[in-house]
Order: sequence, then structure tokens, then C-alpha cells
Amino acid sequence: MAIQRPKGTQDLLPGTVEQWQYLEETIRTVCREYGYEEIRTPMFEATELFQRGVGQTTDIVKKEMYTFLDKGDRSMTLRPEMTASVCRAYVENKLYGQPQPVKLYYIGSMFRYERPQSGRFRQFHQFGVEVLGADQAVVDAEVISLVWNLYQRLGLRGLEVHVNSVGCPTCRARHREQLQEFLATRQNALCTDCQERFERNPLRILDCKNPSCQAVTVGAPTTLDTLCEDCGTHFERLKTLLEAAGVVYRVNPRLVRGLDYYTKTAFEVMVEEIGAQSAICGGGRYDRLVEEIGGPPTPGIGFAMGIERVLAALQVQHQLPEEKPKLFGLLIALGEKAQTEGFALTSTLRSQGIPVSMDLLSRSLKSQLKAADRQGARFAFIFGEEELERQVILIRDLKLGEQIEVPLVEAIEEINKKYKRGV
Ligand code: HAM
Repeated sequence: MAIQRPKGTQDLLPGTVEQWQYLEETIRTVCREYGYEEIRTPMFEATELFQRGVGQTTDIVKKEMYTFLDKGDRSMTLRPEMTASVCRAYVENKLYGQPQPVKLYYIGSMFRYERPQSGRFRQFHQFGVEVLGADQAVVDAEVISLVWNLYQRLGLRGLEVHVNSVGCPTCRARHREQLQEFLATRQNALCTDCQERFERNPLRILDCKNPSCQAVTVGAPTTLDTLCEDCGTHFERLKTLLEAAGVVYRVNPRLVRGLDYYTKTAFEVMVEEIGAQSAICGGGRYDRLVEEIGGPPTPGIGFAMGIERVLAALQVQHQLPEEKPKLFGLLIALGEKAQTEGFALTSTLRSQGIPVSMDLLSRSLKSQLKAADRQGARFAFIFGEEELERQVILIRDLKLGEQIEVPLVEAIEEINKKYKRGV
């Protein structure tokens, strides 16, 4: 039996790849406009980085990591996300010594052993940004406005931007206490996962999708109820700035993110049209993470968006460029001698930046013309035994159905002229 790709992974074929490139190019343009620089980190890291960074009690660390021992018996993990890696790189490369804040972005593959379904993969791709070394609410606002403006640029509609504040460890301890007090008498109605969360991480109970847990938590204290003065002021300032930037958002006091490192701001963007996996972007502030992984105390904030999900949303909203880029010309050489000269001509044209293909199967004129048509080529440059003899080439405009004959020595100049004129 033929070998198949692993479950939860995808082959991206020509036709689809162009859509990815379009999205990636738009992302890079917006990042440049906002002054973010690209960072690339390894696909795998020491397992401990994610255990300490993402958090031992999270689903990601408990159930979803691709962890393996390398041949030197070191525990390694394929990255399930990149925030921890970026913080590690920030510390390891002493980026804290550079002018702050450091504004970085990345596009790359992530790996999580999840149950594959529509919009959920085991190898998926994220575009994310991380800003390290700045703690003011204006940074949070800049990051959220970058997401907003990217989606506007792409023409995405029906966005729901949810923002919340999960507070600092001081407010969180108070919230935890109040939440446990609220849930204490209702514990039996919680699902088994949430019963376990009750002691370890009760905040996550607010985020459980189980209907009975949702019923139990109606009216439960939210993190917004227990914010300290500093966190409260930060959140108010963020809201003012988002309004100033024209970002349409909603405060969702029940928004809890699935990773442990968040402090203060947490946010998510949803597009309902793409189904159950509607979160296209999630992020927040993580003022303790750099220290947690062994660096100097450094505030941070960022987000990541699922490229597959953004593309799915663009697809259902018909916002993706449909057409594959068309070929400018196909050089049709007939016979071995013509192929030799045609091959040289094709190389020269390509080196001048003109996209020209050549038949690689020595097919007949008729089938080569058909191939040119299939590839949407505007021109066929026909070069047979007879043309070779007379040192000329035929330039056929496949759109207009016209054909001219030019001396071979003038071919390059003539084709260049047409290419530059855009016909
Ligand atoms: P996250 O919420 O785990 O956050 O993932 C961010 C986004 O990645 C999700 O909103 C979703 O669009 C996409 N995503 C996650 N898992 C999958 C999957 N299995 N298949 C397809 N798409 C998926 C983080 O990863 C944080 N590192 C974000 C962050 C950056 N926070 C601060 N800085």
C-alpha cells in the first residue's frame, strides 16, 4: 500500500500555495509598516522550555506535545507554539541589551497532538508577534491594532475581537480564592477535568466547553472583579486606546486562554463562519515568562494566529486571489538543433527576469500549443527546423491570435519590449 501523510498534516499543492504566499506577503508588509522584524527559531527545543513556559497544567503540555528522546537521551519537543522559544532566544542572544522594546514576528509550523478536525491540525502554521521589554498598555493596543489592520487589509468581515484582563499574580490569587469559594458547593456538577482543575487551575473552569460546567459557572466571579489598581488602570487605558484606533472589540470577562503565562491583557479574535474552530487569533501579555525561563524580569506581549484558519475565513468570504500566476511565454522548439538554440534563448530571457517555459517532453507543435494555452501563456515563441534554417523566430500572441516573424538576433529585444509593455 502506498504510504500516506501523517494524520492532521497537509500537502500544500500549487494553486493553494499561491494563497499562502499572498497571505504571507500581506503579513510581511503590515509587519514592516509597524516596525516588526522577523525571527526564526528551531523547530524543536528542550522539553523543559515548554513545561516551564507554557505551564505544566495546560492541555498543550499534558496531552499534546510531540516529545522524543534524541540519540543523546535528551528530551526534545517539536514546538507547540513560539512564545516560549522567542523568549528563550531573547535571553540566550541577550536581546535585552539592545534598545527596548524588541518587536519581533514569525511565521512557521507548530505541532500539537490534537484530535484532527476541520480547522484543527497536528502540524499547523502560525503568524505571531512578540514585543519584549515594554509594559505599558499602549503596546497592548499596538499589537491588537496590528491584528485588526491586517484583517482589514485582507478584507475579512464578521470579526469578533474579545478582550479581557486576567490580572497579575496578586489579583489572580484573590480571584482564585473567590472562585473556589463560589464553586466549592457545586464541585460535583463539574466534569472530571474541571474537578481536577478545581485545585490546580480553577480559572480554566470558566473556559470549559462542557454544558454542565458552563451552567455551574454562571454568575461566578470573573478576573475583572478582582483586578488590583495597577491592572485595572492598565485595562482602562487599553480600552481607551483601542477606541482611539477604531478597533471594534467587546470585553469578555470569561475569556481565559489555554496557556498559563498570561498576565493582564488577554484577547482572541473569532470568525463564526468557519465553524467550531472559530478562533483565528489569540494572545496576551506575559510579564513573568522571560523570568520564568531564566532571563531578567522583562514584560512581554504578543499573539499568534492560525494561518489555516485565516485562509479558511478568507475562502468562505471570497477574499482570496483565485488565479494562479500566468506564464508569460512558452518557447516551442521542434527538433534537437532548435532545442539547443531555444534552450540558450530561454536561459537568456530568464536571466533578464522574463518568465519563459520550454517544453521538456519534445512534443508536437499542436500539443505544445495546447500546453501553452493550459498554462495561460500569453505568447508562444515558435522555433522549428525551418525557422532555424532562416534564423528567425515566430512570436504568436495567443490572446489576439496574431503572429509575427522576427530575425533571431532581434528576438530578445522584441520579447523584452513586449514584456515591459505588459503584453
Ligand atoms: P494559541 O491560542 O494556542 O496561542 O494559538 C493561537 C492560534 O493558533 C489559535 O487562535 C488558532 O488560530 C491557531 N491554532 C492553535 N492550535 C491549532 C491547531 N491545532 N490547528 C490549527 N490552528 C491552530 C498561542 O499559541 C500563543 N503562543 C499566542 C501568543 C503569542 N500569546 C502571546 N504571544
